[in-house]
Amino acid sequence: MPNEEKMVTLSVIKADIGGFVGHSSFYPELLDTAKERLNHAKENGVIKDFHVLRCGDDLELIMTHEKGCDSGEVHELAWNTFYRCTEVARELKLYGAGQDLLGDAFSGNIKGMGPGVAEMEFKERKSEPIIVFMADKTSAGAWNLPIYRIFADPFNTAGLIIDPTMLEGFVFDVLDVKEGKSITLACPEETHLLLALIGAVERYIVRSVYRKKDNEITAVASVQQLSLIAGKYVGKDDPVMVVRCQSGLPAVGEVLEPFTMPHLVMGWMRGSHHGPLMPVPFYEANPSRFDGPPRVIAAGFQMYNGYLLGPHDMFDDPGFDEARQEANRVAGYMRRHGPFQPHRLPLEEMEYTTLSGVLERLRDRFKAAQ
Ligand code: F6R
Ligand code: MG
Ligand code: MG
Repeated sequence: MPNEEKMVTLSVIKADIGGFVGHSSFYPELLDTAKERLNHAKENGVIKDFHVLRCGDDLELIMTHEKGCDSGEVHELAWNTFYRCTEVARELKLYGAGQDLLGDAFSGNIKGMGPGVAEMEFKERKSEPIIVFMADKTSAGAWNLPIYRIFADPFNTAGLIIDPTMLEGFVFDVLDVKEGKSITLACPEETHLLLALIGAVERYIVRSVYRKKDNEITAVASVQQLSLIAGKYVGKDDPVMVVRCQSGLPAVGEVLEPFTMPHLVMGWMRGSHHGPLMPVPFYEANPSRFDGPPRVIAAGFQMYNGYLLGPHDMFDDPGFDEARQEANRVAGYMRRHGPFQPHRLPLEEMEYTTLSGVLERLRDRFKAAQ
């Protein structure tokens, strides 16, 4: 491949390897453990650059390299890093140490082993602004609404009607998590069909988005569902999403704009409640009220020759104060429902939680209704 066509891969891989205190936050020294590992890998040329962040109790590895998506080497590095952090977390008796690492030995691809993965390979543009979104106390479908707004809603993204490069719109790759099938839908012409699917956030999850004009990859999201992998509730997915911005793609401000509405997502306490997704600066990503409300942080980067300049804390802006206040108002309103739906999730969504063990106790007491 000629040099100017050299591709770069951005891999964001995350896991909950232990909480501090409870599930609310992350023990700061463990970030150094992860950094040491990745620094070693950078020196040895396995990865080109990296940043380590945390959102709530989740450790986020943001890495660049030239090994493409699904690189066994990069996935193994992430797995070993999580594993090493888990060992320290166990020594310190941090809460739920290693909860997302399902299994002991790495088996070639980290997908399906617990951690969440969002990766994209692309040719770095003249200037490459990127935003990495990271959420805690919520599930993979939480990105459906904002990703729709960013790439298909002209009331959110002015560029869809003002920038000729975006006029044709974007193509959405949607995963049916129940059937293990995927479908692509093009917007604006298939907007209604897309919404018919992705409004059902527990089943249809937007996995990636491409610009229709030239098939340029513009966004990827982690779609791993912990409960489906583990067969029981071990924690929420706490997904990540990567979005490339500007120059014929939605602008940084258009990409952030949907988060001014703290939409309701599944997760929160015991992964069993609906609550508002609150956009916060890094230092406020410590969900403690009723183990929430769910949080999202946004790390901005300028990529240069495969290196990542950043992170810039994108929600550290008074422009999002109103969203945070609204999230608190909505959180209070939802909480007043206590154990009642729609604050509590419907039964099908509670299938993997400990509620089934509770209901089991009543099974033999049911009599045929007269
Ligand atoms: C949500 C979450 C927490 C826990 C809750 C109970 O994703 O992780 O809300 O579900 O704190 O945790 P355990 O059962 O470990 O006491
Ligand atoms: Mg946890
Ligand atoms: Mg978490």
